[in-house]
Amino acid sequence: EKQGYQHFMLKEINEQPESLKRLLALYLDDDQLDLGSTGLKNNWLQDYDKIQIVACGTAYHSGLLAKYLLEDKLRLEVEVEVASEYRYRNPIINQRTLLIVVSQSGETADTLAALRLAKKNGATVLALTNARDSSIAREADLLLYLNAGPEIAVASTKAYTNMVAAFYLLTVDGMRQRTEISRQEVQAYQTALIKLPELLRQVIEHTGAKVEKIAEKYAVQEHIFFIGRNTDYTLALEGSLKLKEISYIHAEAYPAGELKHGTLALIDTGVPVVAVGSRIDIFSKLFSNLKEVKARGAETMLITIENQDFEASSVDYLVELPEFNQYFVGLLTIIPLQLLAYYTALFKGEDIDQPRNLAKSVTVE
Ligand code: F6R
Repeated sequence: EKQGYQHFMLKEINEQPESLKRLLALYLDDDQLDLGSTGLKNNWLQDYDKIQIVACGTAYHSGLLAKYLLEDKLRLEVEVEVASEYRYRNPIINQRTLLIVVSQSGETADTLAALRLAKKNGATVLALTNARDSSIAREADLLLYLNAGPEIAVASTKAYTNMVAAFYLLTVDGMRQRTEISRQEVQAYQTALIKLPELLRQVIEHTGAKVEKIAEKYAVQEHIFFIGRNTDYTLALEGSLKLKEISYIHAEAYPAGELKHGTLALIDTGVPVVAVGSRIDIFSKLFSNLKEVKARGAETMLITIENQDFEASSVDYLVELPEFNQYFVGLLTIIPLQLLAYYTALFKGEDIDQPRNLAKSVTVE
């Protein structure tokens, strides 16, 4: 069932354009966004004072990304928290809270407990899950089905992409309800979403061989750092988790501007730093952080959008992505990040689909 691929993880990385299309097909009707089948009302935005996003691991990272977009575009407060913290700290929840739980398996014990806690306190619960018959899907009030298809590899790839895309759908649906935002802008975002699968396909095609070469060098490393700003920071977190999980290399992700508050002390000759830089509006800020680490001897890899102006001498490895809508382009960086983890683990000879100590579905707390 690996269809010629050496691992399920690589198969699932390559499936992302198709699995994203399956999600979009559920909620775009004649190219018009319609979230009615989730149970969300046409004007849901006015019913809530805040959104809480609660999840674990990779699903949590999709929520971190969503906070940047939802707050920017909807001007609604968004809190994001890991489920095992949320459930044990007496969070502020009421009838005007929309709790969004995100879970590939729909069975993660802590996420399910968070859902029950929020429901008991009067929140409306929207589940983003890839398992329609799961406990989380059954107990939630509203359901946005991720439709990524079965994910076999322990490391989550295509489910993450559909989680982020589901948040893109929610963002655009919320934008539609705001009179401050023009119809043209909403339409432009909708059109961009429809193009996203094809862009993912191009990125898979054009970055694979290059990332494989870089990974061969990374396979001998002990520590790798990831930096980014804004949504790119959340992708850096996800890239570092993927790498830790399957290659067993110690990796950490930082908001690029935070390095100088301590972590910079770890940057020395030859330490690899991966800079995720899809946000062109703040690219110069990221690049100055990249130069700071380069000046201390780091070996730098930059993932950015083509046609940027920067000093090439500060970048050891460059991965370029096509130009695209500023708010959605970040998702394209997940492809080189996933492939970097995959090939690094492959060069190390690790058990990629079944990493040590981990289970696909975490049903114990
Ligand atoms: C990482 C990974 C885990 C899961 C986490 C939540 O690749 O797979 O971090 O994302 O255990 O699982 P779900 O989404 O099933 O609730």
